[in-house]
Amino acid sequence: MNKKFKTLEEKRDQALQGGGTKRVESQHKKGKLTARERIHFLLDEDSFEEIGAFVTHRAKDFGLEKEKYLGDGVITGFGKINGKLVYVFSQDFTVFGGSLSETHAAKICRIMDLAMQNGAPVIGLNDSGGARIQEGVVSLGGYADIFYRNTLASGVVPQISAIMGPCAGGAVYSPAITDFILMVENTSYMFVTGPSVVKTVTHEEVTSEELGGASTHSTKSGVTHFSCSNEIDCIHTIKRILSYMPSNCEEQPPQIDHYSEPAASKLDSIIPSNPNQPYDIGDVIEGIIDRDSFLEVHKNFAENIKIGFARLAGRSLGIIANQPAHLAGVLDINASVKAARFVRFCDSFNIPLLVFEDVPGFLPGTDQEWNGIITNGAKLLFAFSEATVPRITVITRKAYGGAYDVMNSKHIGADMNYAWPTAEIAVMGAKGAAEIIFKKEIAESKDPEAKLKEKEKEYTELFANPYKAAERGYIDEVIFPSETRDKLIKAFAMLHNKVAKLPKKKHNNIPL
Ligand code: HXC
Repeated sequence: MNKKFKTLEEKRDQALQGGGTKRVESQHKKGKLTARERIHFLLDEDSFEEIGAFVTHRAKDFGLEKEKYLGDGVITGFGKINGKLVYVFSQDFTVFGGSLSETHAAKICRIMDLAMQNGAPVIGLNDSGGARIQEGVVSLGGYADIFYRNTLASGVVPQISAIMGPCAGGAVYSPAITDFILMVENTSYMFVTGPSVVKTVTHEEVTSEELGGASTHSTKSGVTHFSCSNEIDCIHTIKRILSYMPSNCEEQPPQIDHYSEPAASKLDSIIPSNPNQPYDIGDVIEGIIDRDSFLEVHKNFAENIKIGFARLAGRSLGIIANQPAHLAGVLDINASVKAARFVRFCDSFNIPLLVFEDVPGFLPGTDQEWNGIITNGAKLLFAFSEATVPRITVITRKAYGGAYDVMNSKHIGADMNYAWPTAEIAVMGAKGAAEIIFKKEIAESKDPEAKLKEKEKEYTELFANPYKAAERGYIDEVIFPSETRDKLIKAFAMLHNKVAKLPKKKHNNIPL
């Protein structure tokens, strides 16, 4: 063979070796795939085209000039997922622990620039010991170059971060700016400072898993949107997420032709006769959307609100639904922030919004007030108000107080609002209302309890229904639950070409 060709062949082969057999074995022993194996499972067969496979670092300190690996600890390139272009970087833990050098960062920046120029999602598979310690500030600069691009790309192309190993220090901030984070249970963690620093500073003894494992971040902090049982599950979930969204903000989300009707459900009998009795809003969602199309986001965090992607007659939707089966579906800080970010994601990428509303109001108490329910509740209000995608609300039961306004009411720009006959649209629940407005009458009554009951009934008859709101046009139609799917399909089709523009501005000032 021509010697020059042979050199190329050898270099290609060398690039495939990563940090060498021993380190690859160690990676496998930890239950982790290698960076290349992950790309193999993520992308359509034979679709990966690598960029920068021969890049090496330029560091000279600490003997690093003698230790070089082709690719420098990150594999970058482009390929296809279900036939659609994506850009991908996959950190190779077998090379300097996947740590980020100047050139490693430059490779990631390069594919981010290409993704922006060509309008396709960026997927980051993170498995890294953080900044390449031997390179010092050059590595920190590399991180900042990535953060800057993450920010510029936000709302232009979807960005997805899978955490498949350690992710420590400032390295967590790139995933945090991206749209969705997935973590793999037991083999990944994220924290700003690790257990040893925590022990020194706060004297707390905590393991990596407790401090920043998938379980912690999917239930306590809400940092991760998906907790995946293993790497294959994680990769599968990335593909599913992408299936609902367009490649960039200029495109419409994909529409699929083959979908199934939901399984026969008992929507007409789903709302309990006792308004204080819970039911699972998940059953309502499943009874209306295309069968098996719901991909829940943030499943185990702030469960009083349920969010996720779904399809209706093959079209992508973002669903936001109060969950009466958890804390009566009340809106609190976590639920507001969780839903607000999702609303903004969907609006960025032209994904219509469907809201199911059964909310008794905002959660009272010092904990909520002192931690800023005002500012955080305002995030959801703000997010809905500025969303210009088609927006529909279905009020299944309670729509009380400020939460009525916030949950995609027509007053803040929703396009169509439906209510089931079981809807109660009022300032508050009948008992609380009667106690306040008939306080004197009840106190002076010979039988205050009976008086309260009587006044409660009066308030219920007057307001615990959807008809006062329908008279005003705040509700467009009161519908039988079993009609909902049909009504929604027609309404979303009617809104398909909606054009709505926000006033000219540099950017808004959402209450962060
Ligand atoms: C250079 C690193 C490295 C790093 C690991 N390695 N982290 N090399 N820079 N940051 C190398 C190790 O020397 C080792 O090389 C190989 O990667 C595997 O590391 P091990 O420690 O053997 O693996 P393991 O026991 O699995 O532990 C993984 C780890 C640990 C938890 C990630 O390596 C670790 O704590 N690393 C340092 C993490 C850290 O403090 N990073 C800086 C964070 S600050 P050999 O040759 O033996 O294979 C930061 C600032 C960013 O990132 C700021 C942005 C704003």
